[in-house]
Amino acid sequence: MSSNAETTRNKKIPVVAIAGATGAVGVELMACLEQRKFPLAELRLLASARSVGKKMKFRGNDVSVQELTDKSLEGVDIALFSAGGAQSKRFAPAAVKAGAVVVDNSSAFRMDPNTPLVVPEINSGELANHHGIIANPNCVAIVAATPLWPIHQKRRIKRIVMATYQAASGAGAAAMEELSESTRAYLEGRPFQPKVLPHPYAFNVFSHNTRVDPETGYNEEETKVMQECRKIFGVPDLRVSATCVRVPVLRAHCISLNIELEAPLSPAEAREVLSRAPGVRVVDDMEKNYFPMPVDASGKDDVLVGRIRTDVSDPTGCSLSLFVAGDQLRKGAALNAVQIAERLIR
Ligand SMILES: NC(=O)c1ccc[n+]([C@@H]2O[C@H](COP(=O)([O-])OP(=O)(O)OC[C@H]3O[C@@H](n4cnc5c(N)ncnc54)[C@H](OP(=O)(O)O)[C@@H]3O)[C@@H](O)[C@H]2O)c1
Repeated sequence: MSSNAETTRNKKIPVVAIAGATGAVGVELMACLEQRKFPLAELRLLASARSVGKKMKFRGNDVSVQELTDKSLEGVDIALFSAGGAQSKRFAPAAVKAGAVVVDNSSAFRMDPNTPLVVPEINSGELANHHGIIANPNCVAIVAATPLWPIHQKRRIKRIVMATYQAASGAGAAAMEELSESTRAYLEGRPFQPKVLPHPYAFNVFSHNTRVDPETGYNEEETKVMQECRKIFGVPDLRVSATCVRVPVLRAHCISLNIELEAPLSPAEAREVLSRAPGVRVVDDMEKNYFPMPVDASGKDDVLVGRIRTDVSDPTGCSLSLFVAGDQLRKGAALNAVQIAERLIR
């Protein structure tokens, strides 16, 4: 892309490609494009050589999957990448060279200073600064940042401490299959050897399956979430600490958030701010003990937020606790990418 102010060539109805179409995010990208009636001249579905010829339905028609190659990206205006970091590193620059704008779901370019990291409800202004690649943030970062941003606008957030309850879908289609299969095996009393995740998943909870940095003690997922929250908020010294954990839930991540603000904000004020915020739905019924849950967040666009209360352990009254649930395949990945693409063709 030659001009960063220009978004897609001549604003014509774009040819759109999904690289990684057969994966958990890819399937959801197709659903979002279809449900949101995204205008496109052609949808090209790309994946590995293993999937070539596989038929996938889009708008009632069968579309054949092609192999992701330099050639398959020719003529593409918008390329939505969800084929893993290695494929993004290899093929996203080729797509840009061929004239496309890339929205990348992998972590390959997120912390590159020349690549905007965008949650449209927060920093869509950054889209004007792209050089062909726009990064979609980590799913936890998106699900946490979307409800925290409107609070940050009301009272500046000084510190965030979070603990996640991450679903299988965050690790892709094969991890969802492993959770289902291992649960079935457990209930039938059969042995099950994990292949995708490092520990037994059925009826278990374990620290996120990414490498732990021996110096900091944080794993890669936690490090990504902390760095990306700072970049999305545009606050390089924002104090953030994350603990990321996998729970045996098929889809939709939950996060417990504890935030310290520059001045007190009552739970009622926070609820009011959040009830007006885009991309967020308040689910906070103390009487019925009804709060955000993965089953309610699955397949939904909004991040659910509840359990909004003053943290009594902070004598200044400046800290709040919240609990959120968000479908990380939708807002945490595909929906956020399609929202970015929608802004590119405006
Ligand atoms: N899952 C989430 O909630 C989530 C959220 C945010 C970001 N992401 C990121 O999105 C990306 C995809 O995640 P996912 O969960 O959808 O994974 P997934 O279910 O495992 O799907 C991976 C996709 O990549 C394709 N692929 C793998 N190797 C390839 C190759 N050599 N050439 C071309 N295509 C190849 C696969 O095609 P085949 O079917 O042909 O193998 C499949 O379409 C990852 O970078 C992930 O970190 C995921």
